[in-house]
Amino acid sequence: MYPHLKAQVKCLDGVVGEVTDVVVNHTAKQLTHLVIRHHGDELLVPMEDVTLHPGNVVHLNRSSWEFSRYPKFNRSLYKQVDPQEIDPHLELMSGHALTSIPESDKDVSRRKFFVWVTGGIVALIGAGIAIPGVRYLIYPMYQGFNNQWIKIGRREQILKEDTPELLKFLKVNKEAYLINTVEKTHWVVKASERLRKEIYAKEENRLFREKDGSLVWENDPRAPLIVYSGKCPHLGCAFRWGEEKRQFLCPCHLSVFTLNGEVMGGPAPRPLDVLPVRLENGDIEIIDSEFKAGTHEKMRIA
Ligand code: FES
Repeated sequence: MYPHLKAQVKCLDGVVGEVTDVVVNHTAKQLTHLVIRHHGDELLVPMEDVTLHPGNVVHLNRSSWEFSRYPKFNRSLYKQVDPQEIDPHLELMSGHALTSIPESDKDVSRRKFFVWVTGGIVALIGAGIAIPGVRYLIYPMYQGFNNQWIKIGRREQILKEDTPELLKFLKVNKEAYLINTVEKTHWVVKASERLRKEIYAKEENRLFREKDGSLVWENDPRAPLIVYSGKCPHLGCAFRWGEEKRQFLCPCHLSVFTLNGEVMGGPAPRPLDVLPVRLENGDIEIIDSEFKAGTHEKMRIA
């Protein structure tokens, strides 16, 4: 005889609850415990303590106080089984016949948990290493240009109007722990008013911008000095001034430029690159900018 679902449970001193589930030993095919709801709790009562009476009443030979001392039922440790597999008479308990989850299954859950926890820790450590690395790699992309003013000479060095002079300076580059020094050249022109008008008619020769488009500097069109980058806009060769023809000539691929920087011949795709310049107490200072070679548009890259 088996109890039915919702069978009343009586102790020596009165009714204490009703049957909600049965627990079976799947291997031995035996009913081992009853789950009894009691004042909102579920208690696990062994079958040895139970007597089944006709009329579907479950009797316990204990007081209600003793009954309340039975262990609480933990549903997460059990799974449903087909009662027919245990005993056909248990069919009324369909959906309410439970068996404890084998330890091996719990181990799988525990193993999964530890795998997730370990994976999470590894991912966190990896992120801790990777994020500064990625930031280090992409930081230059978001770093602005170096807009430091650099002295390249004195005003007295440029005496003749509309006659370019080559000024050189040593530039120190620091990248991480590497420091190198390169010689850079620029052509400086004490420009007549007419020449300045021609050059500053183009906005790109007057306004200098950051990567985000914000204005860094505006050359003063009344200031006498113009500075050209010493690199040919074709592929970056050094070019020279020819006083006889009053032209700039690049020996690499024979590009020719007028005094105002315009292309007269050769493969150069754009005029000479004008740099930001200012005079500070007689010092000629520039922002030493680099521009992409071979493009029609003047694109600052450093
Ligand atoms: S680099 Fe000057 S013409 Fe080619």
